[in-house]
Amino acid sequence: MTSADTKPIRQDAAWLDPHWMPFTGNREFKAHPRMIVRAEGSYYFDANGKKILDGLSGLWCCGLGHGRREIVEAVQKQVATLDYAPAFQYGHPGSFELANKVKELTPAGLDYVFFTGSGSESADTSLKIARAYFRAQGKGTKTRLIGREKGYHGVNFGGISVGGIAGNRKAFGATLEADHLPHTQVALRDKTKAFTRGQPKEGAELADELLNVIALHDASNIAAVIVEPFAGSAGVVIPPVGYLQRLRDICTANDILLVFDEVITAFGRCGAFTGSAAFGVTPDILNFAKQVTNGVQPLGGVVVKKAIYDTMMAAGGPEYMLEMPHGYTYSAHPVACAAGNAALDVLVKEEAVERVAEIAPYFENAVHGLKGAKHLTDIRNFGLAAGLTLAPAPGEPAKRPFEVAMKCLEKGVYVRYGGDTIQLAPPFFIEKAEIDTLVSVLADALSSTA
Ligand SMILES: Cc1ncc(COP(=O)(O)O)c(C=O)c1O
Repeated sequence: MTSADTKPIRQDAAWLDPHWMPFTGNREFKAHPRMIVRAEGSYYFDANGKKILDGLSGLWCCGLGHGRREIVEAVQKQVATLDYAPAFQYGHPGSFELANKVKELTPAGLDYVFFTGSGSESADTSLKIARAYFRAQGKGTKTRLIGREKGYHGVNFGGISVGGIAGNRKAFGATLEADHLPHTQVALRDKTKAFTRGQPKEGAELADELLNVIALHDASNIAAVIVEPFAGSAGVVIPPVGYLQRLRDICTANDILLVFDEVITAFGRCGAFTGSAAFGVTPDILNFAKQVTNGVQPLGGVVVKKAIYDTMMAAGGPEYMLEMPHGYTYSAHPVACAAGNAALDVLVKEEAVERVAEIAPYFENAVHGLKGAKHLTDIRNFGLAAGLTLAPAPGEPAKRPFEVAMKCLEKGVYVRYGGDTIQLAPPFFIEKAEIDTLVSVLADALSSTA
């Protein structure tokens, strides 16, 4: 045991006070702290020693499970060898190794990787690249950005501009000008479509709204459309069959870049290496983060097609000049790259993607077995992800999911609550019996919630 292990864990209000926690009800948390102190495999352990099944792989990022030796050792070795290298104008071997791996695991044609430190940074980077790409071609009017209702692209100004979750936007004033396509949560428009398994069969035509946006602004003013292949944070909203292809076709026909924000869907969650591969549609730009390091280190990135990279290089002026004035101190941080290289090696070696594809039908059956449970109005799923919608308590739409999640935690199961949803994204190697536990604890929590 190290001294860190033996240090008493303070949880009193005065001690907790200085940390303004992100996306957290600070007052509630500090009154009822949920302090996680250790993790192993598919489980967390809290400060009271309680073992907790990790029903969301951290925050959708630890699909390979916690404490993977290969990743831990790679990080330890890297931090002792090269703790930091300047991200600008100098390089280190780990980022080139990781770029090659990412290129290999993402769809053919997406060949150049720009590293960031997070999903939010990836969102803003992709939008800036889209604008710069058109400007470099002398098409400087192509600047408008199009997102989608219920979309989540992180919390920076670019991301919230195209994002479509009102609660994440309303407090922060003017954003970038952006249009929003309709969401694809089909049951909100037609109750008979609730509890659809996997992709809804109908709804591809929702993509046609893009034609109206183009008619309004003209394609000569539009740079990019950004969507998540399936929307995670809004509660797992799945694209109808044919929808993403339709977006692809309209973008191609109108010289608009299609950006897939794959911060949740890349590297295993869909039972394929990417959402693009799972849904069979290749974007021009693909954003990733989270699972790339198995959540062990902060790292994200943007993969672009060759034409984008080539255009930027060709317009770059003298070779000693930089081609794009953009990047972060922690872009391709050596320790994060070491984690990424090790995590992607494990992903491939242990055939984690195949494992997700194999267990997904069991997960789907188990989760849809909740149909009929108290408060539940819809269940959606894809790969190892599911979203449950709960009928709102009068005047308090977000309260029931919170209460359900807290009841689950009491029983040793961590699920995410957000808006009117509960979200599930268990680790890739979760056992069937653990899926059963997850679902039965949820069923009890739902039935005992007022
Ligand atoms: C699709 C998508 N984009 C961007 C982000 C933001 O990532 P981060 O929290 O690493 O900034 C998330 C986070 O959940 C996400 O799901």
